Amino acid sequence: GAPVEAEIGDMKPGELRTVEWRGKPVWIVRRTPEMLESLKATDALVADPESKRNQAEITPEYARNEYRSRKPEYLVAVGICPHLGCSPTARFAEGPQPNLPDDWHGGFLCPCHGSTFDMAGRVYKNKPAPDNLTIPPYEFLSDSRIIIG
Ligand code: FES
Repeated sequence: GAPVEAEIGDMKPGELRTVEWRGKPVWIVRRTPEMLESLKATDALVADPESKRNQAEITPEYARNEYRSRKPEYLVAVGICPHLGCSPTARFAEGPQPNLPDDWHGGFLCPCHGSTFDMAGRVYKNKPAPDNLTIPPYEFLSDSRIIIG
C-alpha cells in the first residue's frame, strides 16, 4: 500500500485523529503535558513498559523511548487491538470509570475483551492483548505534516 500523508498542524492538545493506512486505522494523538506525565504513573501498571517484546514488528527503533514516538507530543499508533483485532476506543479522561482499572490514567479500552492501553499504547498487565499497540512506520515531513508508511 501507498504511504499516507496527514496534516496535523491544526490539531488541538488532546485531540485524536484517525487516518487509514493499508486498510488499517492509524491514530494520531496530540498529547497534552498531562497525558505525557501520566506515562510515569502507568509505567508500573503495564505489562511491557519498555516495549521490548516483538520490537521489530511492534515498536520501531525511533519509538523505543518513554513516549513510544518520534516527538513526545504526538502518538502515532495502529488502532487495532493485538488480541483479536477489535478497535479500541479512546478513554482519555482519568479517574475511576466503568470497565476501566481503578487507577485509570487515560488511554484506550478494547470493547471486545477489556484490554486497556495507556497514552503510549502500552497494554496493562493481566489483559488478553499480548502486546502493546503497534507503532507504524512514519516520519515528520514538517512540523505540521507526517507521512505514514
Ligand atoms: Fe481486544 Fe480481545 S480483541 S481484548
